[in-house]
Amino acid sequence: DADGGPAVRRLSAWDADDLRPLADAYGTPLYVDDRSRVRENYARLAEAFPDAEVLFAMKANAGGHVLRTLRDAGAGAECASAGELARALDAGFDPADVHYTAVNPPDADLDYARRVADEHPALTVTAGARDTVERLAERGFAGRFCLRVHPGVGAGHSESVSTGKDAKFGVPADEAVDVLDRAAEHGFDVVGLHAHAGSGITNDQLDDHERVVSTLADVARESGRDFEFVDVGGGFGVPYREREDALDLDRVAERTRDALTGVDATLMVEPGRYLVADAGVLLTEVNTVKRVGGAVIAGADAGMTTLVRPAMYGSYHPIRSLVEESRATEEVSVVGPVCESTDVLGEARDLPAPERGDLLAVGNAGAYGVEMASNYNSRPRPAVVALDDEGEELVRRRETLADVTHAEDTAGTYPDP
Ligand code: LLP
Repeated sequence: DADGGPAVRRLSAWDADDLRPLADAYGTPLYVDDRSRVRENYARLAEAFPDAEVLFAMKANAGGHVLRTLRDAGAGAECASAGELARALDAGFDPADVHYTAVNPPDADLDYARRVADEHPALTVTAGARDTVERLAERGFAGRFCLRVHPGVGAGHSESVSTGKDAKFGVPADEAVDVLDRAAEHGFDVVGLHAHAGSGITNDQLDDHERVVSTLADVARESGRDFEFVDVGGGFGVPYREREDALDLDRVAERTRDALTGVDATLMVEPGRYLVADAGVLLTEVNTVKRVGGAVIAGADAGMTTLVRPAMYGSYHPIRSLVEESRATEEVSVVGPVCESTDVLGEARDLPAPERGDLLAVGNAGAYGVEMASNYNSRPRPAVVALDDEGEELVRRRETLADVTHAEDTAGTYPDP
């Protein structure tokens, strides 16, 4: 499909000649996000779900360049916090296309959501607990309301991101009707049902996905209400390994529609990763090479503070050397500059024998990459460059030490290293 582009953009498909000058110009570690790839991913998804509304789960990458790209493409925004809600509005999303999904929300988040709902009655607030409903009522909320149902099924790339089975998220299905009634008694405008099973669903987890959607359909029928929409969450997986197949979106869409048979409501999906993961790479420079008892260690300037997924979930990200000359390959572990033994980007990778100064690219870095970066070890967070048809743009400058310390009362008194 011309508009949607190929279903997978492998790391090998990035042109090294395009990437090397970016590292020279902006330094490393550097995130590079390709806005045209984000548009392709959106087009493919929208084509697979022609009748659905698509919300971008902005927790995957809340950079303004990504938000504006997806807004222009036609997406809405799913926000997990007051901060995300503020950034979505700032990026110009129509409040009618913005959902705030409250997860055990701090008071300040609910106060803000209430104010936004007053100013923009088209905003939808999703809650996943009785307490959240009561706390919204205490604040006089009377806006558009969606209930997050705990589907009792989990899925995803690892236990740590499987939300469906975790009691933290959503109201148990057998209490859902009761909580919906309560919300209506409080004067909320009950418009939708929501569930999200987990993040990184693959072709062999479609049964789980279908069960989640069926649970929503059951609740919808049982409640006897007319819902405007049913939001089946995000979680559409992308291949991280070169040999992995792409998720068969048409099958996901078909299974979703099957499970919703008889429910007269607009389908909503809210993917994060699917839209942005393969639109981003992380560039990092090798500064240290060690050969210890047969093992080859390449120390690079990106680590767990830049891209935490390998350290946090044991996630695999493809790594490619961008060196121009040909060299014999060896098995290399790529590690970062943080004082932690889990500070690894990739283990036992076949890479050209590394040398100091080599540039490496880490693939699928567009989702949950810069968004989860931290200042641990007093490390400034990396810069982000956005590519588009007209060329490149620095959309987030590299942090300085002053950025790291600015909230301390001694802020700004340190000379930058
Ligand atoms: N909707 C809700 C309510 C969610 O909780 C999430 C993700 C999404 C949508 C989007 O899921 P996606 O389409 O991106 O898979 N940091 C982890 C992922 C955590 C996802 C949490 N919720 C990672 O790096 O894999």
